[in-house]
Amino acid sequence: MARELNNRTIVITGGNSGIGAATAVACARVGMDVLLHGRDEERLAAVAEEVRQLGRRVALVAGDVTEPGLNERLLDVAETELGGFYAVFANAGYGFKKPAHELSMDELRRLFEVNFFACYELVATAARRLIATQRPGHLLMCSSGLAKFTLLNFSAYSATKAAQNHVCRAMRWELRRHDIEVASVHPITTRTDFFLRTGEERDASIDPAQAYRHVPRWLLQKPETVANAIVRCLRRPVPEVWTSLLARTAAGLITIFPRLADVMGRRIR
Ligand SMILES: NC(=O)c1ccc[n+]([C@@H]2O[C@H](COP(=O)([O-])OP(=O)(O)OC[C@H]3O[C@@H](n4cnc5c(N)ncnc54)[C@H](OP(=O)(O)O)[C@@H]3O)[C@@H](O)[C@H]2O)c1
Repeated sequence: MARELNNRTIVITGGNSGIGAATAVACARVGMDVLLHGRDEERLAAVAEEVRQLGRRVALVAGDVTEPGLNERLLDVAETELGGFYAVFANAGYGFKKPAHELSMDELRRLFEVNFFACYELVATAARRLIATQRPGHLLMCSSGLAKFTLLNFSAYSATKAAQNHVCRAMRWELRRHDIEVASVHPITTRTDFFLRTGEERDASIDPAQAYRHVPRWLLQKPETVANAIVRCLRRPVPEVWTSLLARTAAGLITIFPRLADVMGRRIR
């Protein structure tokens, strides 16, 4: 049976841009209230206004996901201002492109802090609160197609996303008896600010018209496509949210035949 989403609250990190923003709007459309998080407060206010226009309540928290206490604060604000939370989408993250042997340990640690440790902490904290109050819930992390295979120069990014994928799978089994669903989300290349950043920060020198030039069309999608797939998963839980059957099939084949990855790695950069 489909899960009721009306009047339930979702907490979304990185909700002021791209996939997070599209998910906030898609959730509001199906009657959910939103605890919206991001760093850039102007963008945060703009997405919040879209949610309000859809007749839903929204609360805002700004800050870096690696700030000590930020994750607790997100859940506290959801509880005090929106009466609790049902779903959490740990989505804030960034891409990082460099050959593995050239990565500094600081770069690698920062990427894991944002893409993995912060998401892990949020989802685990939310699980403990739901269990303590015997509430059902749904916890999601924004992983990537690159959790299953990697590309040239994306070793560290893929490692963070694969780590999310494994944690979600184990948590899914661990939390089932508490009526808490867990899923990882595996977008393919999505037209967001992801490729307009150098590391974590937006880079004005990157031309948006050129940013996705290297990506084959079958690998490019809109953030709304991911957002709608997430809403479908909230309604009818699945272990992994995929938006491309082709990418999913490729991921499966590469796992069985690793040499195929060599061919793909040469074609997609
Ligand atoms: N776009 C793709 O092709 C693609 C494919 C697979 C997976 N993903 C994943 O999708 C997720 C969302 O990315 P997107 O594509 O929507 O890109 P985006 O438009 O660049 O959004 C990234 C979001 O993460 C936030 N963020 C980044 N670092 C942060 C930090 N240290 N603290 C707090 N917030 C931080 C950003 O906040 P500010 O805007 O305030 O900086 C922004 O809201 C990421 O986890 C990414 O790895 C993206």
